[in-house]
Amino acid sequence: MGMFSFMIIVAYMLVPALKISAANLTMSQSIIDSETLVSNSGQFELGFFTPGNSTKRYLGIWYKIIPVERVVWVPYGANAINDSSGILAFSKTGNLELRQNDTVVWSATYRKQARNPVAVLLDSGNFVVRNEGETEPDEYLWQSFDYPSDTLLPGMKLGWDLRTGLERNLTSWKSPDDPSPGDDSWVLRLNNYPEFYLMQGKHKSNRIGPWNGLFFSGLSLQKPNPIYKFEYVVKSDVLYAPNKVEMSYSLVLKNTSVLVAVTISKGRFRTRRWVETAQSWETYDESNLNDICDMYALCGAYGNCLTTASPLCLCLKGFSPNSRQEWNTMDWSGGCIRKKPLSCKEFYKDEFVKYVGLKVPDTTHTWVDENIDLDDCRSRCLSNCSCMAFTNSDINGPGSGCVMWFGDLVDMRQFETGGQDLYIRMSSANSDLTTNTRAQQRHKRVKIIIATTTAAISGILFFCIFVMYRVRRNIAEKSEKKDNIKRQLEDLDMPLFDLFTITTATNNFSSNNMIGKGGFGPVYKGKLADGQEIAVKRLSRSSGQGMTEFITEVKLIAKVQHRNLVKLLGCCIRGEEKILVYEYMVNGSLDSFIFDEQKGKFLDWPMRFQIILGVARGLLYLHQDSRLRIIHRDLKASNVLLDENLNPKISDFGMARAFGGDQTEGNTNRVVGTFGYMAPEYAVHGLFSIKSDVFSFGILLLEIVCGNKNRPLCHGNQTLNLVGYAWELWKEKNALDLIDSNVKDSCVITEALRCIHISLLCVQQYPEDRPTMTSIIQMLGSERELVEPKEPGFFPKRISNDENLNKMSMNEELSITSLNGR
Ligand SMILES: *[C@@H]1O[C@H](CO)[C@@H](O)[C@H](O)[C@H]1NC(C)=O
Ligand SMILES: *[C@@H]1O[C@H](CO)[C@@H](O)[C@H](O)[C@H]1NC(C)=O
Ligand SMILES: *[C@@H]1O[C@H](CO)[C@@H](O)[C@H](O)[C@H]1NC(C)=O
Ligand SMILES: *[C@@H]1O[C@H](CO)[C@@H](O)[C@H](O)[C@H]1NC(C)=O
Repeated sequence: MGMFSFMIIVAYMLVPALKISAANLTMSQSIIDSETLVSNSGQFELGFFTPGNSTKRYLGIWYKIIPVERVVWVPYGANAINDSSGILAFSKTGNLELRQNDTVVWSATYRKQARNPVAVLLDSGNFVVRNEGETEPDEYLWQSFDYPSDTLLPGMKLGWDLRTGLERNLTSWKSPDDPSPGDDSWVLRLNNYPEFYLMQGKHKSNRIGPWNGLFFSGLSLQKPNPIYKFEYVVKSDVLYAPNKVEMSYSLVLKNTSVLVAVTISKGRFRTRRWVETAQSWETYDESNLNDICDMYALCGAYGNCLTTASPLCLCLKGFSPNSRQEWNTMDWSGGCIRKKPLSCKEFYKDEFVKYVGLKVPDTTHTWVDENIDLDDCRSRCLSNCSCMAFTNSDINGPGSGCVMWFGDLVDMRQFETGGQDLYIRMSSANSDLTTNTRAQQRHKRVKIIIATTTAAISGILFFCIFVMYRVRRNIAEKSEKKDNIKRQLEDLDMPLFDLFTITTATNNFSSNNMIGKGGFGPVYKGKLADGQEIAVKRLSRSSGQGMTEFITEVKLIAKVQHRNLVKLLGCCIRGEEKILVYEYMVNGSLDSFIFDEQKGKFLDWPMRFQIILGVARGLLYLHQDSRLRIIHRDLKASNVLLDENLNPKISDFGMARAFGGDQTEGNTNRVVGTFGYMAPEYAVHGLFSIKSDVFSFGILLLEIVCGNKNRPLCHGNQTLNLVGYAWELWKEKNALDLIDSNVKDSCVITEALRCIHISLLCVQQYPEDRPTMTSIIQMLGSERELVEPKEPGFFPKRISNDENLNKMSMNEELSITSLNGR
């Protein structure tokens, strides 16, 4: 199951039955050099052309509607025609042939017997041959989309049709003058864990990594764009013995009025779009597959490539360069070797170390079982000495399935965000790496016993010494601490504002300048001497946090930068005063728009959808940044600020981390959050996780679509909160009624319904049922079918006997900053 259990159905974009004669070629007709076939709508044309500086003639299909020649298909394998004597026609037996005088230079290979065939150039650019009356794509005798040349058009598929054994790959032209197959191709290799490679001749030059259920392991998350997307489709058929019948990659247009095509040439894979105003092709997205870390196996076996590192290649933890000398001259091809060799045979001598954020290694030598879990996968890998690594074959949700790698691991890279976990076999002698392992724990236990005994014997002795030492040390510590803070402030790497600047900017924290009051203290608007506007957050003194911890956290937060997060400009520390200075957001917070009847009209649906995407991206960044995973814990409409272009920026992130104090275990006594946005397990038990943030995101999403706060609403004779109301309408299949009347006109119904669906998935009662932000972004950007949501967490009912929370429900605007949740 796993990766193949969900099946993405791609509708054929082919236009069936075309009856315009200009697009058709029948048995009795032919096309000579001076004639062409034109598709029904006039988009594509088929005929003979002369490429570049060549003097020869070739058969091809090109865009007719644009003035620049852009050939999208040629029949690979056909010989060039020396003069204008080329002819495209049917043979007596009905075979479509390209002839020069009486020599056949190319002919179509049919899938079945021809009966009165007709060749048609469809509006998709697909040139098909079909029997009269058989118009279904499955029935075609032949189609040019099955034999791609260097261009992938929307509706075309690359990959394998496993029933017919048809392989469709993209192959560059030899040169702009010679449209015969060149060296570069984009192919799907049917490894046990299949993956796409960019080949140069026989050599792999790039790979995007296997499909892991959510994305290609080697591509950093693709930003959804409004024009096109790529889709990976795996179709299974239980009746067919090997089960999988199709694995394909295709380009799907979201905006069908734009011309988009993917081409391969000179070792590059480019997505181009036609820009009407410029009358030229523009490379729309070239970001993937072209950065240096994507060069195949650049860092050798067990090497890890980091675009931000210098040099680029690093050995994985626990490994060292095979040849230090070569490595130092930036020849990394020799790769890395283990510092401690594997022992394999002796049980418990080998263990697995988890590496995170990786592009998984080349899958040529892999083995997959979609039906076993990670634990079984681990033990199976452990029991085979040549198994070097394993991980989930599908990372959807909690992850499922098993993939194991045999032999050396090559072509990995490190991602700052995204990437995957990989468990690599190591000798357990790497004690610094293999913590948490069984052998390790046993080892530890022995150590503890020895330590306890020793301690008991020498305890009394030490105690006396310790007391004396402590007295002296206290004195030393105090002055050391001061120096320490000073030093830390110096390398804070961020502007330090002095208190005078801040008081001047905010009119001495005048109440007229106060623009909000968050859980951690009031926020003021300020203006610096140079005219720059700032937002000043004055942290309440009662936070009870030490200065050193504060500085450490601020340092971390300063590094967290993303276009959908409010930027920290600097801070001010003076005595007990701790102040954070942020960029000022002209348009204030999202709640002031969506919950306001008048201002609500201003945010139409496309704007709202962009805001949703922006917030999702910001939150994903917080959750996935490898340096510090930040759980926001107080995501809500008033914490989403809008800049001058109405781009959303999440504020107050990292605050909970910086001021929560005791929340390192994911369980806290101090519940920070806002009623109405809190996940049940967090509000009731103080348990928080990325999934409690997902819950808050779900509420926010619903509020943006509905224009209503998550507060009690009447539905029939019941009083429900927004989530409950949404759930009722969803069950009644009346979810459309939820959409804010302010956006009814501008609304893309399918998008809005999809948002409601996603929000219900986010607010499900059990955290494990809720999707991660990664999959939420995927869901927002695709039209793939979603699972049905289970009942949401209606927590007001469950905690109604808790006095504290009852009080709060009277004033739902209040942020709850100090509440004993248990
Ligand atoms: C095709 O036939 C014409 C006339 O019969 C002849 O002149 C020409 O050389 C032929 N072309 C080729 C490539 O054989
Ligand atoms: C591309 O596909 C064709 C068959 O469709 C095959 O002959 C060719 O070898 C493939 N190219 C590569 C590089 O695998
Ligand atoms: C599709 O693209 C065209 C041309 O760029 C643009 O004018 C149109 O607004 C787009 N349509 C949608 C629904 O985005
Ligand atoms: C280990 O796995 C490889 C690859 O599947 C297999 O060829 C080999 O026989 C296995 N070895 C053992 C001892 O099971």
